[in-house]
Amino acid sequence: MSKLKAVILAAGAGTRMASEIPKVLHKVLDRSMLAYVIEAANEAGAKEICVVVGHKAETVIKETPYEVAFVEQKEQLGTGHAVMQAEEFIGEEGNVLILFGDTPLITGDTLKSMVDYHNTNENAVTVLSAMVSNPQGYGRIIRDNNSTFIKSIEHKDASLEELKVKEINSGMYCFNAAILKEALKEITPHNAQGEYYLPDAVLHILNKKLKADALVIDSYEEILGVNTRVQLAEVSKIMRKRINEQHMLGGVTIINPDQTYIGKDVKIGLDTIVYPNSFLEGRTSIGTNCTIGPSAKLISSTVNDFSIIDQSTILSSSVGEHTNVGPYAYIRPNCTIGDHVKIGDFVEIKNARIGNNTKVSHLTYIGDADVGEYVNFGCGTVVVNYDGVNKFRTTIKDYAFIGCNTNLISPVKVEEKAYTAAGSTITKDVPAYGLGIARAQQVNIEDWVKRKRNKLF
Ligand code: UD1
Ligand code: CA
Repeated sequence: MSKLKAVILAAGAGTRMASEIPKVLHKVLDRSMLAYVIEAANEAGAKEICVVVGHKAETVIKETPYEVAFVEQKEQLGTGHAVMQAEEFIGEEGNVLILFGDTPLITGDTLKSMVDYHNTNENAVTVLSAMVSNPQGYGRIIRDNNSTFIKSIEHKDASLEELKVKEINSGMYCFNAAILKEALKEITPHNAQGEYYLPDAVLHILNKKLKADALVIDSYEEILGVNTRVQLAEVSKIMRKRINEQHMLGGVTIINPDQTYIGKDVKIGLDTIVYPNSFLEGRTSIGTNCTIGPSAKLISSTVNDFSIIDQSTILSSSVGEHTNVGPYAYIRPNCTIGDHVKIGDFVEIKNARIGNNTKVSHLTYIGDADVGEYVNFGCGTVVVNYDGVNKFRTTIKDYAFIGCNTNLISPVKVEEKAYTAAGSTITKDVPAYGLGIARAQQVNIEDWVKRKRNKLF
């Protein structure tokens, strides 16, 4: 296997997005368009990747947390010029893929087959092409009577005869690195747009009697580029369908795939059901036989087998087996929730551990706490973890029973099998088997109402 690198062009302004955000950073599901292209290049076996940035370069670099190199193209003088900026990176060895940062549907498999085709035929360059019904605006692939590739011509430079051709240049290539470097030297901006065209490199390669060819891709969708937000939505829809179908074929029931938004890295076990309006993103992993949604939002979280997440948000946390969350629970980052737990309605939990078999059924806030097993939280408990300056941790041991409307002023401990009385504000540790009670004694004032109101009712 010869060495493979990739250069991804992402310097353009993307004016038609009508956006302050650089085009390649616009998201498809849970990640930027550029991220998909980087991942596809990786999957195709590109060991080193270089992204050519220009428009809002700093933002693109900052928002692209991948191990890639960046080079800056200060002025956008065309695709050929963009590749020239990466000359040093390209080097002289093996092959280099040229990709665009705004075609997120390209797959590693397709790129791999282009590289294989390129190597098998010992090509100097292989262009990825596609047959489309409306080739308007694209560069055309021109072949002779033996259907041998002879050139790629830009729409604006094409003759009427050439414009009829439906085979288009995807803009993606596999080049022999050393040959590309030589060809780049010969590109000039003498064309209809006054740009340095990368397709001209292909022409120079052919002029040297080196082998150039176009490989027609089966699925035209993969080369769709995004220029507007309308196209962003179209591409997102295709991506969603692609991912959702994989899960369904793998044994997951998705009630309405058009309204289910699952990121590429999400894993879901057999016989789990996902209800509509659910967003599963990042490195989320769901076990078997779970019920997710409707309206669940899970970001980089783990849910184990047989659990139910109903209309709730879970961020960077884990949930055990046979656990019920929601409706309307909010699990904020860094929570570890055990097995057979119940987290009910209007419960918020943050940076806390909740042991197995514990119940937090309703209207409770637990922040910065370690909660044991078989603990019961009454309605309306608040862990008062913040004094306005610092945050403190609270510990609640196994089998503790927290009465309704308890405030636990952190740091504080409720030991094993201890109780707190309803309505207590607990500021001191409660010993094992003890009852913490901290509320004013009730006094009944006889006939108070009669004196208060002159007219009896
Ligand atoms: C390009 C191809 C065309 C192909 C089409 C497929 C050229 C000259 N034309 O046309 O054959 O059919 O893609 O979509 O290559 N870019 C830079 N720096 C630049 C110019 C462009 O980084 O100076 C980047 C853009 O950000 C974009 C990509 O390259 O991601 C394509 O550029 P664009 O100007 O959109 O090329 P097209 O005219 O679409
Ligand atoms: Ca384009």
